[in-house]
Amino acid sequence: MARKKIALIGAGNIGGTLAHLAALKGLGDIVLFDVVEGVPQGKALDLSQCGPVEGFDASIKGSNDYADIAGADVIIVTAGVARKPGMSRDDLLGINLKVMKAVGEGIRDNAPDAFVICITNPLDAMVWALREFSGLPHNKVVGMAGVLDSARFSHFLAEEFGVSVKDVNTFVLGGHGDTMVPVLEYSTVSGIPVSDLIAMGFSTKEKVDEIIKRTRGGGGEIVALLKTGSAYYAPATSGIAMAEAYLYDQKRILPAAAHLTGQYRIDDLYVGVPVVIGAGGVEKVVEVKLSVEAKGNLQVSVDAVKELLVACKGIDGSLA
Ligand code: APR
Repeated sequence: MARKKIALIGAGNIGGTLAHLAALKGLGDIVLFDVVEGVPQGKALDLSQCGPVEGFDASIKGSNDYADIAGADVIIVTAGVARKPGMSRDDLLGINLKVMKAVGEGIRDNAPDAFVICITNPLDAMVWALREFSGLPHNKVVGMAGVLDSARFSHFLAEEFGVSVKDVNTFVLGGHGDTMVPVLEYSTVSGIPVSDLIAMGFSTKEKVDEIIKRTRGGGGEIVALLKTGSAYYAPATSGIAMAEAYLYDQKRILPAAAHLTGQYRIDDLYVGVPVVIGAGGVEKVVEVKLSVEAKGNLQVSVDAVKELLVACKGIDGSLA
């Protein structure tokens, strides 16, 4: 059987880490694409030289030509710029929207059968724009945010409870970061709801609320520490988990920014919800019962996404 092909659009911090993880895990041959000449080629050469030490045979190629992504099974998009001091949200939106247009058209023309995972921020708007520009089926274009947000939440809870992170399973909905909606009723440790653990004295409601706040600001906390960039190890690891769910038809239930068609009373928007990811891409949106509070928080998140889409349509008339 021929090896799978993984194309990574954007060879920056996340793109390079994705390539490293994909090679170590033997997901397939890798193409690292970027607009900057030399960077994807240099990273690909460096990563290829891990092969003899680690014992992987994957071919890792750096490229500035979209023709090289032809036939990709999975594409992970991290192309774009991060917000810099003095840049407004609309400035960032304008720049990354242009990037999504180029990337979307590159995918449309060269790898229309791929499963596409978008990581570029602002995520919920960029994944929508990427889908619009690429014209791929909605179930084949998905955004990575929930896996990362829930990993951050699980990490902090495991530390607080003094238990293995392997047993912590957290549930988040909504947008990435600020508007993320953690749902405590569905967050458990070995099946025990977080609220029961609080009642048993593992922690307090106040401490868990503090953890939720820290999780929402999880990206910003890392930016403030790094000073020159944003998080990349956990975002890349989260993207790879979604790629594996597709490539191995795992049918995992993962939180992801998916296109909704009436589920959760949300129509024609990309919003973070639990979905089943398998060989069919996003095979199903899982619609759980929500408390009044969670519903209200989800609505705040949806309103924020809608506002971003209005701004996108204002910037690029072809999206209107
Ligand atoms: N096509 C391809 N690559 C592009 C394009 C483009 N049109 N424009 C920019 N790039 C590349 C840059 O050259 C750079 O190598 O995208 C890469 C982005 O890498 P980093 O700046 O290192 O950013 P990274 O940390 O990888 O994050 C990428 O993911 O989580 C989000 O907010 C984050 O939007 C950001 C994205």
